[in-house]
Amino acid sequence: MYDIHCHLLPGIDDGADNLEQSLALARHAVSDGVTHMVVTPHIQPGLYENNRASIMAAFKVFQSGLVEHNISLHIAMAAEVRLSPEILPMLEQDDIPLFEAMDGHKTMLLELPHSHVPPGTEQMLGWLLKQHINVLIAHPERNKELMRNRNKIEALHYLGCKFQITGRSVIGGFGEPSQQVAEYILKKGWCDVLASDAHNLHHRPPELFAAQQAAAELIGEVAAAKLTYASPQSMVAGLF
Ligand SMILES: [Fe+2]
Repeated sequence: MYDIHCHLLPGIDDGADNLEQSLALARHAVSDGVTHMVVTPHIQPGLYENNRASIMAAFKVFQSGLVEHNISLHIAMAAEVRLSPEILPMLEQDDIPLFEAMDGHKTMLLELPHSHVPPGTEQMLGWLLKQHINVLIAHPERNKELMRNRNKIEALHYLGCKFQITGRSVIGGFGEPSQQVAEYILKKGWCDVLASDAHNLHHRPPELFAAQQAAAELIGEVAAAKLTYASPQSMVAGLF
């Protein structure tokens, strides 16, 4: 499986605190069936001041750790980018690592605030799409406004956004309302990617297989398998 949203890099966001934790998470992901992982630390100005250089530095530490401990996991780096005005200058300076397809096409893993969809969101998304940067919205099923208003989910879909659902949501780990919205998006055929959004072993582990099985109950095995393999692979293959 491909897991293209997770927080395994040591010490640069609210995921792994140190390399030992990173490696424990990596071993767990491998045992769950993950072969390829794109680590996506938060870029959130004011809270997680990451950029390409800080992510690259932690990535190198993680990569060396995997080699040293013989952990067989293919890794690449990108970021989970919180929607904010600072994105624009950072993009201009090539300071945000993005997903990259085999043909060079870029995708940004974009996170909305958890509480609402801020005014101006559609304009920002339209701007990104016009720059030929695809937008993969991280866990729409956990955004309070989208949970209340499914028309807004539909609007984002028709604007051209893709959706990443967090595996744990599909199996009820974020509560019933999130699970219901996840099921709605899956049944509509609007989910492009299932990812773990792993942060730690106890509450948010790097697991995908159980979610894929649960998704298979809703949309069939072939479609569910696509969400953890062919579809994420097509977005990130240029990074490996
Ligand atoms: Fe995340």
